[in-house]
Amino acid sequence: MSIKIGLLGMGTVGTGVVQILTDPSGRHPLLQEIEIVRIGVRDATKPRSVGLDPQTFTTDLASIVNDPSIQIIVEVMGGLEPARELILQAIGNNKHIVTANKALLARHGEEIFELAKRHQVYVMLEASVGGGIPIVNVLKQFLGANRLTGILGIINGTTNYILSRMHQEGGNFSEILADAQRLGYAEADPTADIDGFDACDKIAILASIAFSERIPLSEVSREGIRHVSTTEIATASRLGYVIKLIARAQLVSQGIEIGVYPMLIPVEHPLAAIGGVTNAIAISGEPIGEVVFAGPGAGQGATASAVVADLINVCALLSSPGHPLLTCSHSGYAQVVAPRENKFYARFTTLDQPGVIGELGTIFGRYSVSLETVFQQNRSGDIAQVIVITHRVREIDFWQSVAKIKELPTLQEVGAILRVL
Ligand SMILES: NC(=O)c1ccc[n+]([C@@H]2O[C@H](COP(=O)([O-])OP(=O)(O)OC[C@H]3O[C@@H](n4cnc5c(N)ncnc54)[C@H](OP(=O)(O)O)[C@@H]3O)[C@@H](O)[C@H]2O)c1
Repeated sequence: MSIKIGLLGMGTVGTGVVQILTDPSGRHPLLQEIEIVRIGVRDATKPRSVGLDPQTFTTDLASIVNDPSIQIIVEVMGGLEPARELILQAIGNNKHIVTANKALLARHGEEIFELAKRHQVYVMLEASVGGGIPIVNVLKQFLGANRLTGILGIINGTTNYILSRMHQEGGNFSEILADAQRLGYAEADPTADIDGFDACDKIAILASIAFSERIPLSEVSREGIRHVSTTEIATASRLGYVIKLIARAQLVSQGIEIGVYPMLIPVEHPLAAIGGVTNAIAISGEPIGEVVFAGPGAGQGATASAVVADLINVCALLSSPGHPLLTCSHSGYAQVVAPRENKFYARFTTLDQPGVIGELGTIFGRYSVSLETVFQQNRSGDIAQVIVITHRVREIDFWQSVAKIKELPTLQEVGAILRVL
C-alpha cells in the first residue's frame, strides 16, 4: 500500500526530506511505501537539485491541502501565514501534519491542536526543536514512565557558536556575529537567535509536551546574548564556568518556571562541553534522574531526519495491522566482519637496556605500524615499562609485530594491549 504525501515548501529542509524519500535503500522499509504526490513552492520554475518530475511542483498550495488522495502534509515552508491557514485547511480535510515550524506552533499551537483533536489527526513536530535530536518523541513516548521535573537545554546553535568562539578566542560579540553571518551560521537579521526568541519558541514547545500543559509564549522570560562581554566570558572561565544561552523549564510547587537566559554553567556540567552549533538537552525526571541528548540542532540532513522520523511514525499507524515500528521484520543475519584497522595502546615490560626502544621501533616499522607516541616510565631495578601508542594501523600488521616483539630476549612481558578510539 502506498501512502501519499504532499509537501508545502522545498527549501533547505524540504530538499533534505525529498533526498531521503527518493533514496530509501538501507533506511526504514516503510519509506518505500511513501509516494510524493505534490510539492508546493513559491517559484515552480526554479531549478531544483532533486530529480523529480517538474509536474510535481505547484505554486497552488491550497490544491495540495485539498487533494483527496493525499494523506499526510509535510509543512516545511516556514513563517506564520500562509502556513497556519494551509495547515488548518489540511486538518479540516482530515490529513495528518508533519511540521518543522516552531514559530507557528509556539504561537498558534492551541488552535492547530484543538482542530487536530476534533478531526482525529496527528500533528507531528519532531523537527521543530533540536534538529536531528529526537527529543520530542523521547518526551512523548520513551520517558512516559517518569514524572518529568525539568528541562535544561542549549537549543539555539547560532548563539552557542558565538559564545563558544568568544570562550575559545576571546573575540568580541559583534566580530564573531559578523563572522557567523559570513559562514551561514547566523541569519542576515540575527534577532530571532541572538535575542532568544527562537529558543523561547522551542522551550515553550518542549515544556508543553513534558508537562502536558500549554505554555503562553508571552510568559516565557527572555534574555539574549548581546550584552555578554569578553570581560564576563574571561571572568567566568577564571571561576570555572562557561557562559551558555540556556533554555530552562522547571516544575516548581506553584507552577512552571520557564525562560531563556545566558547563564554561567560549571565546567564539569554536561552542557558546558557542548560547543559550536551543536544542541544538547538535559531532561530530569523521577525515577530516571537526568538524561542528556546532544547532536546537530539544525541543518538540512539533521532536520530532514527528524521530519522523516515523524513521517515513518504516521505511516506506521496508517499501514496494515502489526505495527511496523514495534514488530521485528528482520529476515536474515548481517554479515559481521572483523575490524580491519585500529589505533593501539601497548605497554611492554622490558629489560632497561640501551637500544630496547629502537628494537621495538624497528619491528613495528618492518610491519608498517607507525607510532604516534613512545615513552618509557616506572623504571625499577633493571626493568622498564615502554608505552607505545600507534597511529591507525592494520590489525594484522599490529598483531604480527607484537608476535615478533614477544621473541625479543629483552622483553619480559606484554603488560597490556588496548584499542584507542
Ligand atoms: N533550515 C534549518 O536548519 C531548520 C531547522 C529546524 C527547523 N527549520 C524550520 O523548517 C522550516 C523550513 O525551513 P527552511 O530552512 O527549509 O526554509 P527555506 O529554505 O526558506 O524554504 C522554504 C520553502 O518554502 C517555500 N515557500 C515559502 N513561502 C512560501 C509561500 N508563501 N508560498 C509557496 N511556497 C513558499 C519556498 O519556495 P521556493 O523554493 O520557491 O522559494 C521554499 O521551497 C521553517 O519553519 C524552519 O523554522 C529549519
